[in-house]
Amino acid sequence: MSEGQHAEVAWNERGTPVSTRFDDPYFSLDDGLAETRHTFLAGNDLPARFRPGFHIAELGFGTGLNMLATALAAPDGMPIRFTSFEAFPMGADEIARALAAFPETVAVARPFLAAWARGESRFTLGALSVEVILGDARETLPAWQGRADAWFLDGFSPAKNPELWGDALMRAVADHTAPGGSAASYTAAGFVRRGLEAAGFSVARRPGFGRKRHMTVARLEAA
Ligand SMILES: C[S@@+](CC[C@H](N)C(=O)[O-])C[C@H]1O[C@@H](n2cnc3c(N)ncnc32)[C@H](O)[C@@H]1O
Repeated sequence: MSEGQHAEVAWNERGTPVSTRFDDPYFSLDDGLAETRHTFLAGNDLPARFRPGFHIAELGFGTGLNMLATALAAPDGMPIRFTSFEAFPMGADEIARALAAFPETVAVARPFLAAWARGESRFTLGALSVEVILGDARETLPAWQGRADAWFLDGFSPAKNPELWGDALMRAVADHTAPGGSAASYTAAGFVRRGLEAAGFSVARRPGFGRKRHMTVARLEAA
């Protein structure tokens, strides 16, 4: 994991990691795990849609909290894939510090943290097979050979990290989505919704987590 740039992290008074590069927290200051469950799992109608071989992809791996929430939600022993795109990886020690706020995740995080500390970006967590693709998603996603059944769109806020929400990247997300696949995001920013629509998704708003009024869910037509 030596190539590329490293995350630049500060810690707020509640122990939440905040990116100093993007001036934005990695997850909700209220309850990051509850936010993940509401936004990315329920937003993609998970766990109901899980089946063997189901493939989740994510923009923005960060602390791996979304991956761990997925591991906790997946039916025991069901093989599921999780691919995440990350340009500025955090260190294993920083990730461990961030996850300490979520004891449920700590219980399943050990193989991940051990692999990450060894510099491995492919590992398994029970039946979940994980690959983190390092580099700028605007370059790595178009080159990716996979197709996801569900996307977690989790860049920093569109105002602060617009490069992770642009039209071309939303088209690349659609190009790498299986027929009938879905995407969810905590943001309801108009330009993100329009970008997803222009890429071929049907887009809707749902109530957001905590103080957020709205979030976005998107679906591609089944073939
Ligand atoms: C809100 S955080 C993701 C939180 C994460 N999903 C979690 O569970 O902790 C956004 C992430 O997007 C990454 N990021 C920002 N710009 C990127 C880019 N152009 N390509 C890939 N990753 C990027 C940041 O480094 C950061 O880790």
